[in-house]
Amino acid sequence: MKTILVTGGAGFIGSNFVRYLYNKYPDYRIIVLDVLTYAGNVENSPEGAFGSSRYEFWHGDVRNSDLVDTLVSQSDSVVHMAAESHVTRSIFDNRLFFDTDVLGTQSVANAVVKHCNKVERFVHISTSEVYGTAQTAKMNEEHSLNPMSPYASAKCGADRLVYSYWATYHIPAVIIRPFNNFGPYQHLEKAIPRFITSCILGEPLTIHGDGSAARDWLFVADHCEALDTVLHVDADKIVGEAINLGTGQHKSILEVAKSVLSIMQPEETKDLVEVGDRSGFGRRSVCVGEEPPEQLLRFIGDRPGQVLRHTCDAAKAKKLLAWEARTSFEEGLRQTVDWYKANRPWWRPQMWMRHIPIITASGERQVH
Ligand SMILES: NC(=O)c1ccc[n+]([C@@H]2O[C@H](COP(=O)([O-])OP(=O)(O)OC[C@H]3O[C@@H](n4cnc5c(N)ncnc54)[C@H](O)[C@@H]3O)[C@@H](O)[C@H]2O)c1
Repeated sequence: MKTILVTGGAGFIGSNFVRYLYNKYPDYRIIVLDVLTYAGNVENSPEGAFGSSRYEFWHGDVRNSDLVDTLVSQSDSVVHMAAESHVTRSIFDNRLFFDTDVLGTQSVANAVVKHCNKVERFVHISTSEVYGTAQTAKMNEEHSLNPMSPYASAKCGADRLVYSYWATYHIPAVIIRPFNNFGPYQHLEKAIPRFITSCILGEPLTIHGDGSAARDWLFVADHCEALDTVLHVDADKIVGEAINLGTGQHKSILEVAKSVLSIMQPEETKDLVEVGDRSGFGRRSVCVGEEPPEQLLRFIGDRPGQVLRHTCDAAKAKKLLAWEARTSFEEGLRQTVDWYKANRPWWRPQMWMRHIPIITASGERQVH
């Protein structure tokens, strides 16, 4: 029986991945280490997992090196996802981001060094945010690292820390750089769940700036399939490598908001017409057909350090992992909308965290 340690396994991607592993590999034992910040929820554990000898949940901190050491010593593979993960939150309170994302990674990496004889693979989940704004049409792993937010720089520090441990101590590390994920179990602070729940609640969808910031949107189930391969492909192929995961296509935040509206209110929004202030700092209305203006989109100031565009070059993942994202944005969004519609009790307690006060690029205090 193989043992896989997943840090941050009660969060969005972590819990999707733990559920995926738990259901796919009946002969695997999965250990989750999660401190259950506001973003973690023990109820994200796989159904029926508690009480099973195949699942162990440890409520603890990745910065607790004794605990991490004990859990790593029992593991064949370690997938390190635990992090503070919200860019906007890192703008108003960044200390915890460096503590958790950098020093937490150091604690896990040190344990992997110590138990290198037992640990076959150390998968570090980095992020495309380490690149900053795209300087090329698609960003490959050679793109320069220009993190543009405290979150991104903390993750960049962790990414390079893991690389340096591979170079120095020869740990079996692989660095994964996923682009923006979406899907079930994502916290309401992130754009797509916020848009979907705004629709459900009959609120306008809040857009940062003019909504032109574009991202490569990866459905979380596709990410899980890629990580499955990362755990199982020949080590020689991938150890010491950084690997992007994304679709190779981007969509702007405004396009995403409109897609959510058209999935959730297909009849009413089929004749969307934009009107109003395009400065990005006033409110802008979207009229529906001939109806009087209805507030469906609300434009607020842009986030400081906004990344303009991210588009993944996933050629390396295709070559090394034989992986490609296979869920279209529309299909992933449909599944995500259905999940949020069906799971109000899961997301209702997070409603108060959907908006965060920050100072915008123009120096204004705004609630994002
Ligand atoms: N969501 C995305 O679009 C995306 C994209 C690229 C990379 N990532 C990375 O993937 C990983 C998972 O992201 P997510 O969206 O699932 O994040 P998330 O915020 O939903 O989950 C993070 C989890 O880590 C846990 N955690 C935080 N601090 C901890 C600590 N000190 N000790 C133990 N556990 C702790 C939280 O309780 C939570 O369960 C992160 O490393 C993130 O940087 C996310």
